[in-house]
Amino acid sequence: MKFFVDTADVAEIRALNDLGLVDGVTTNPSLIAKSGRDMSEAIKEICDMVKGPVSAEVTATDAAGMLAEAAKLRAIADNVTIKVPLTEAGIQACKALSDDGASVNVTLCFSASQAILAAKAGAAFISPFVGRLDDIGQDGMSLIAEICEIYGNYNFPTEVLVASVRHPMHVVDAARMGAHVATVPPGVLKQMFKHPLTDKGLAAFLADWEKTGQSIL
Ligand code: G3P
Repeated sequence: MKFFVDTADVAEIRALNDLGLVDGVTTNPSLIAKSGRDMSEAIKEICDMVKGPVSAEVTATDAAGMLAEAAKLRAIADNVTIKVPLTEAGIQACKALSDDGASVNVTLCFSASQAILAAKAGAAFISPFVGRLDDIGQDGMSLIAEICEIYGNYNFPTEVLVASVRHPMHVVDAARMGAHVATVPPGVLKQMFKHPLTDKGLAAFLADWEKTGQSIL
């Protein structure tokens, strides 16, 4: 399973990248706004740091506008993945970009039928938003199971990128279902380390070690 980091905060990405945990990065217009950064500069910096795919999202709502923006974003670095919304225009742009050899991430997916369209359009990634489905009382992870089943039935090469992840159990459930990628906010990735028995066990080991008076070095 690949871990992408869901942020445009370069410092946070660097810290996780130094841990060796970052296979890619996803951004969106809201995350760029939150970072306060110029989009092109931030994407360039992230692409220089992270070897894997870095999603940069178009903001035009028509296919021609999306393609024009995509051309500019693709010129930033070879590892830019173009993120388009799951609209008719977005699917049209996805097909044109994929045919042209671009990596495309289709975002704002909330149903299996939408995921089928993205795969048919040649998307490299489909991004179902599990947390936002949970927020409205639906089961976000059931959608991941459905998409994994459907893509598996046809050997679609589109990777299932679990997005809108809110807690470590979303990541664990996604992994159990065989989703290819989880894009994880930095805070959730840090939560994945935590277990009280790890802290308690380490404290006991160190206390016992202290009593021995030994030093490894
Ligand atoms: O990058 C898209 C997605 O992960 C957004 O998550 O928390 O805004 O629903 P959230």
